[in-house]
Amino acid sequence: MKYIRSDEEIQSIREACQIAATVLKRLVDSVEEGITTYDLDQLGRKAIEELGAESACHNYRNGDHVFPAYTCLSVNEEIVHGIGTMRRTILAGDVVSIDVVVRYRGFIGDNAHTVLIEPVAEENAALIDATRESLNYAISFARAGNRVGDISNAVERFIKRHNYGIVREFVGHGVGKTMHELPQIPNFGRRGSGSLLKPGMCLAIEPMINLGTGKIDMLEDGWTAVTRDRKPSAHFEHTVLVTNGEPEILTIPKN
Ligand code: MF3
Ligand code: CO
Repeated sequence: MKYIRSDEEIQSIREACQIAATVLKRLVDSVEEGITTYDLDQLGRKAIEELGAESACHNYRNGDHVFPAYTCLSVNEEIVHGIGTMRRTILAGDVVSIDVVVRYRGFIGDNAHTVLIEPVAEENAALIDATRESLNYAISFARAGNRVGDISNAVERFIKRHNYGIVREFVGHGVGKTMHELPQIPNFGRRGSGSLLKPGMCLAIEPMINLGTGKIDMLEDGWTAVTRDRKPSAHFEHTVLVTNGEPEILTIPKN
């Protein structure tokens, strides 16, 4: 059946998601003024190793480009897929998006979170709150009988109440043995459109929301997406299991 995981596969994805969530939490707790994004990435590499998993980002290929880091660290105007570097030190007031994708026993867990460094600008706090809430709202539509477009539309509808830009070039996705499986889950769309949701689907839902324009530029490294107006961007992501009842968020740490 289309995009449906077996109970055994779901068990592995569950474990991968718990590891991804634990690593993400450690990085969220570690990010502070003065740390470089390289050191943050190395903390991620070590935590993933320690938990017996591997980074699904490291050596991930997109055409000729090979992703060199272990996590994605995207600061301020960087939207997603930022590469940790010694040249970038986290500064006061920064907006830091952390994306952790692991492979464990052959299955993927994927999640992301945006953190604000003190002193927090009011407009950044509002952006982060809206992005997190749009994700939670969208997850509430990840129910059997709904369609992918119901999730997409939920993000768009939620964000429409603000003057923010929705990133259209990157989308959520199914997860399984690989990081980007079908169905694609855009953060905009029509209610009732797209694939039917069924129990056993594992979906990574991930709104990327910009303070200003939704338009993006790609940096020369071939990975880092930045906002065209260089204003900050926020990104939250959970991997969610569609069930017969309530959606189950697999990337909330259980311990
Ligand atoms: N969560 C991101 C995504 O789904 C992770 C990408 S890893 C990278 O696109 F290697 F592609 F950067
Ligand atoms: Co993802």
